[in-house]
Amino acid sequence: MASKLFLIMAVVAAALPFAAVADYVRPPPRPILNSSLSSLPPSIPQQVHISLAGANHMRISWITPDENAPSLVVYGTSPNTYPFTAQGESTSYRYLTYRSGTIHHTVIGPLRDSTTYFYKCSGVGPEFQLRTPPSKFPVTFAVTGDLGQTGWTKTTLDHTAKSQHDLLLLPGDLSYADYLQPGWDSFGQLVQPQASARPWMVTQGNHDVEHIPILKRGFIAYNARWKMPYQESGSGSNLFYSFDVAGVHVLMLGSYTDYDVNSDQYKWLKGDLAKVNRGNTPWIVAVLHVPWYNSNTAHQGEGDGMMAAMEPLLHAASVDIVLTGHVHAYERTKRVFNGKSDPCGFVHITIGDGGNREGLASKYKEQPEWSAFREASFGHGVFNVVNITHALWGWHRNDNDQPVAADKVWINSLSSSGCLAKKKKELRKLLLAP
Ligand SMILES: *[C@@H]1O[C@H](CO)[C@@H](O)[C@H](O)[C@H]1NC(C)=O
Ligand SMILES: *[C@@H]1O[C@H](CO)[C@@H](O)[C@H](O)[C@H]1NC(C)=O
Ligand SMILES: [Fe+2]
Repeated sequence: MASKLFLIMAVVAAALPFAAVADYVRPPPRPILNSSLSSLPPSIPQQVHISLAGANHMRISWITPDENAPSLVVYGTSPNTYPFTAQGESTSYRYLTYRSGTIHHTVIGPLRDSTTYFYKCSGVGPEFQLRTPPSKFPVTFAVTGDLGQTGWTKTTLDHTAKSQHDLLLLPGDLSYADYLQPGWDSFGQLVQPQASARPWMVTQGNHDVEHIPILKRGFIAYNARWKMPYQESGSGSNLFYSFDVAGVHVLMLGSYTDYDVNSDQYKWLKGDLAKVNRGNTPWIVAVLHVPWYNSNTAHQGEGDGMMAAMEPLLHAASVDIVLTGHVHAYERTKRVFNGKSDPCGFVHITIGDGGNREGLASKYKEQPEWSAFREASFGHGVFNVVNITHALWGWHRNDNDQPVAADKVWINSLSSSGCLAKKKKELRKLLLAP
């Protein structure tokens, strides 16, 4: 135990010199991208993206301007040959003067692991291909938050595409459409090349709410377009859910829906954690938008309410790593709990530096003892879970278009430490609390 901790600390110390790159000249802003949607014929499916939908299943989502297009996916394991067919559902929405296209969601499967499938949406248009994730270690997650749709977003996406990941985690703030609904369509087009090929698992950020008092409730576009496997994970809301991939249990939590101990989210979380078997999923990862441990001057204190409600439970459940966004900079902590470093706490990572138009948050407070690495640059993360005990976390800076690995550290799963046994009583107490 102690030797593992020393190993982590040694690696952290070794990584530290990179934190002080004084001569990294931060490149200038890049323009907002506007992809032209009107140039597509009305029958062609667009904005194709995929997500995990329960064991061995995948949800295919896409939009057609044509409201009569069927919610049909044909697929198979060889190009242009589609022995399988799945029928799904469709929805649409209005937002002030905007009318969305027809938004289709179709679940396909059962699918084989680590297998390439070729598919077509609504029976027309181009063929897409996806690869299903593995059922065993190793498994690799790409992580990018606060994406938006600028030239820097494009760079981040190009870099994540090269990172050989099995799926992508997005801790909130997707399109930065900010009430102007065509922005959701251009975002859908921008991410299609990657999001149609690997599952994109997202949770919500403040830019995804788009609530207008009296006129419009929150998350109309987000929920209609980015349907996640909440029903499959026993949740009553698209704003919080969980899934398993290989040996990792992933909690996708909501910073912009109720989280107090009496909330639906908290009750669902208790039920979800009660079912986790660390033998099957030795790793637990939590993803949410507003950071709990961050020493940037931006957004200080905004995560305090959720942290007060949920940190004790996530800690008791021995969550290994918490991934967040919101602050447009990168920061990794040592293992933390209750405001200090703690060998049985989680590693907290802020990675809201996907490249949106608001730019970087480059002002910091004095570095707290729990902060291991911080830098305000655009980039993305790669979380490579090698086996039951070891995972390699890396943050890659968008350094003049080369994905430079700027921070790299081995993380050990808490399930192979003494922490689980130590916190057993605490977890039981919290799970059984009314
Ligand atoms: C995209 O649209 C915005 C707002 O209409 C405009 O300022 C910007 O120059 C456009 N970008 C490109 C690449 O056309
Ligand atoms: C897990 O991976 C680490 C890093 O590659 C390696 O040192 C360790 O021996 C592996 N453990 C097992 C049980 O394979
Ligand atoms: Fe945000």
